[in-house]
Amino acid sequence: MPDMRLLIVCLGNICRSPMAEGVIRARIEASPLAGRVKVDSVGTGHWHVGDPPDPRAIATAARHGVDISGLRGRQLWPQDYRNFDWLLCADKSNLRAVRARTPADARAQSALLLDWAGVEPDGEVPDPYTGELRDFEHVWGLLDRAADGVVRRLQRELDGRFV
Ligand code: 4NP
Repeated sequence: MPDMRLLIVCLGNICRSPMAEGVIRARIEASPLAGRVKVDSVGTGHWHVGDPPDPRAIATAARHGVDISGLRGRQLWPQDYRNFDWLLCADKSNLRAVRARTPADARAQSALLLDWAGVEPDGEVPDPYTGELRDFEHVWGLLDRAADGVVRRLQRELDGRFV
């Protein structure tokens, strides 16, 4: 069982959250936390269940050395509230949807990813789906900083459990 289980949440699970999953996993596996943290991603919507990430998300991640082409979309479901410690949301609309669907026996906590990672209090990752490639690059920059913040926070929080 991993020491920490993080679920990244966006709307479609084909743009922001798979890019976040990819960069956060890569950064964790290159850190002293390697092998101790589970990272997954979901969408609050059902439209892209079973789909690979958006080609622009795959291309952006690849340009930064991260392969997310094997990821497949799935939708948030009640088990996620028991199987993860944190549900980390791309924007406030995602966070509202996550909180509105909380089952009675939920264990996970929820937050905004950029806030939780110490990048920006109350910060949101803008949806690039209807945008251009440069919007995906902007999102990648935010997620790259979030990945560093996630590693810093987990190293601090989990420190005592590595001895
Ligand atoms: P994401 O972007 O939430 O970052 O994956 C979106 C992808 C698809 C849709 C909306 C947002 N959609 O409406 O299909």
